[in-house]
Amino acid sequence: RYRDPGAVDKMDPFAEQEEWENYQSGKANLKYGSKDKKQASADYQYVFEDGVDFIKESIMDGVNYEDEMPSENPDDSIAKTVLHKLQEERKTLPIYPYREQLLQAVQDHQVLVIVGETGSGKTTQIPQYLHEAGYTKRGQGFGHASTPTAACILASNAALVLGRKALEWRLLEMNIECQLFLVGCTQPRRVAAMSVAARVSQEMGVKLGHEVGYSIRFEDCTSEKTIMKYMTDGMLLREFLSEPDLASYSVIMVDEAHERTLSTDILFGLVKDISRFRKDLKLLISSATLDAEKFSDYFDSAPIFKIPGRRYPVEIHFTTAPEADYIDAAIVTVLQIHVTQPPGDILVFLTGQEEIETIDEILKHRTRGLGTKIAELIICPIYANLPTELQAKIFEPTPEGARKVVLATNIAETSLTIDGIKYVVDPGFCKIKSFNPRTGMESLLVNPISKASAMQRAGRSGRTGPGKCFRLYTAYNFQNDLDDNAVPEIQRTNLANVVLTLKSLGINDLVNFDFMDPPPSEALLKALEQLYALNALNSRGELTKTGRRMAEFPLDPMLSKMIVASEKYKCSEEVISISSMLSVGNSIFYRPKDKQVHADNARMNFHTGNVGDHIALLNVYNSWKETNYSTQWCYENYIQVRSMKRARDIRDQLEGLLERVEIEPTSNLSDLDAVKKAITSGFFHHSAKLQKTGAYKTVKNPQTVYIHPSSGLAEASFSFITIFCCVLPRWVIYHELVLTTKEYMRQVTELKPEWLIEIAPHFYQLKDVEDAAATKKLPRGKGRAAE
Ligand code: CDP
Ligand code: MG
Repeated sequence: RYRDPGAVDKMDPFAEQEEWENYQSGKANLKYGSKDKKQASADYQYVFEDGVDFIKESIMDGVNYEDEMPSENPDDSIAKTVLHKLQEERKTLPIYPYREQLLQAVQDHQVLVIVGETGSGKTTQIPQYLHEAGYTKRGQGFGHASTPTAACILASNAALVLGRKALEWRLLEMNIECQLFLVGCTQPRRVAAMSVAARVSQEMGVKLGHEVGYSIRFEDCTSEKTIMKYMTDGMLLREFLSEPDLASYSVIMVDEAHERTLSTDILFGLVKDISRFRKDLKLLISSATLDAEKFSDYFDSAPIFKIPGRRYPVEIHFTTAPEADYIDAAIVTVLQIHVTQPPGDILVFLTGQEEIETIDEILKHRTRGLGTKIAELIICPIYANLPTELQAKIFEPTPEGARKVVLATNIAETSLTIDGIKYVVDPGFCKIKSFNPRTGMESLLVNPISKASAMQRAGRSGRTGPGKCFRLYTAYNFQNDLDDNAVPEIQRTNLANVVLTLKSLGINDLVNFDFMDPPPSEALLKALEQLYALNALNSRGELTKTGRRMAEFPLDPMLSKMIVASEKYKCSEEVISISSMLSVGNSIFYRPKDKQVHADNARMNFHTGNVGDHIALLNVYNSWKETNYSTQWCYENYIQVRSMKRARDIRDQLEGLLERVEIEPTSNLSDLDAVKKAITSGFFHHSAKLQKTGAYKTVKNPQTVYIHPSSGLAEASFSFITIFCCVLPRWVIYHELVLTTKEYMRQVTELKPEWLIEIAPHFYQLKDVEDAAATKKLPRGKGRAAE
């Protein structure tokens, strides 16, 4: 494909192809925004003519650039048709008629706020337009900050054909200094970053990870060739650590700004700051909601560019009485739509993976029962941890006669657009993180959504034709119980991580940081306190050596502290294994409904000796490693291979970071107490003590908590309870709290209370643990009986 000179035209996006034709037929009427049209014209002619020649030439002797070539597609003709179809599709998006105006606005202003309804093409098109207009390269005579000349367009397209290095070299040969620049686009969600990058790479006919790539935590799918980079907002935040002026970027697009995630809010302050001294950096703030004035005000009255959406009427239905069980109501509604309504796909908004899996299962079961009496219902789940290969399924067109039902988390509210949706089912809930700055406790809670969210959700049904939205709550609820807008994350989350990042960027005065909405001062104080307790900051609030090392790890400060502390206890190997297993989340163990007993038995094997959940995770990792990372072994032990592979991947990266902060890889498997002490060094805030009732109480800021049923310790106490009464440990340390029916501790390990004083003397006094000291000599069982 890349050796056929004719293919160059096909690779070229529509715009300059037309220009090229005009140019050839002598009708060239070039639209330059530049004051110096003549000069621009001259540039154009020179580079364009030469450009075409050198590209064609290079393609002809493509052999020389073999390794710079994009990978060959096995079926060229199909690839070309697909590419052509995608190019046609691009022209049908609402944003397309505004392409020139938008590029002009970007050229005229450093900061631009862009507003357009979800699905109008902001995320997938704007970076491509910028690329086509030359923003992915910089060079003498056609600098990206001046005029987007056709030469630039051609040159940057040549990058696609030749690969970045070859192009730079070629231009250099022609005495044109040229450096390719990145267009970066941030997304609040991992899945969105990945799937949008995949889509854009398809549209451009390139391999994902080459010219178009993505970067999310622990997964960098970019290369030397990358010129358009989709990434999570958190990743861009981390990039400031290595490149404080973002020198490799020509444009930063902060997308989905209305989501107001913590990282996005912090990015606002940072990009606003660098835009003052990097006048060549373009900033685009894009949002799906109409209240863009706030963004504009914040960015010194930046102009607002509105992309008029196409919206069809949406019929909204409320329930007449509140629903007791919205899961059940959602299932019934989906089936009713399926049986009674004309064709069109259904989108159901749910709060998380577990809920989605439950409904998936029930729907499959119920429709199976109906057999051929109803049309086929294709069920497509989508949530953050869904394996990549399954994510693409939601975008596949629905076959004739069938109906698709997409079970999605909030991700489908604005980040992802699925074509063909005609019906929306909205139970009115989402999961949000909430943080209590007083106690320092953070939990994930199911909350009612805001009115703004409800409107967004409804709007998803009216993109391609009139739609219907079924709200599983009453009109009264909507009017009276829902807030207008969600509270920005910065005002309801633990700030320790962000504070550590800002401190390592040298931003010390956090109180006067340019926040769009400042966090509660209590939360800021709590974060400083926590970092001080972790010894990441000194008493003057300055970063310590430990803090500097901690900031290297893309982890929560408690986890990074545990890793840094492992140096002292000579068990860094074990601790990074545990950290990576914890980072994978709660998807290590697999528990099929029909084999629960087997699965539980297999799981308990890793808990032999009642070692606690952290060590059990370590045992899982080490056993898997011993089998040479065997997949079979995972099946036999009811362990999810995919999660393990991810853990291994994360571990490799943590190993690299250990080296960077100069911590020797050391192993101390014979001394589990050392490992537990390292864990305690990071997680001493999370200690709890057993009560007479069998519940636990957190040591600081007393609160009643329980061991999560999935914990090996809960299991042990349950099976032994009838025989030996109870072997629940008196003191424990936990990884996190989750609130379901009760406040549960997840990932729990036994602790010796004297460690708290030994490890965190500035945080715990003797009185916090003194009754433990009194009963310390007693064997554990008796100690408990004496209570
Ligand atoms: O960002 P915005 O919501 O304005 O729109 P977009 O994400 O750029 O989507 C534009 C079009 O691309 C929509 O019609 C999507 O259905 C399509 N798209 C897709 O087919 N696959 C993706 N992974 C992402 C977008
Ligand atoms: Mg978007």
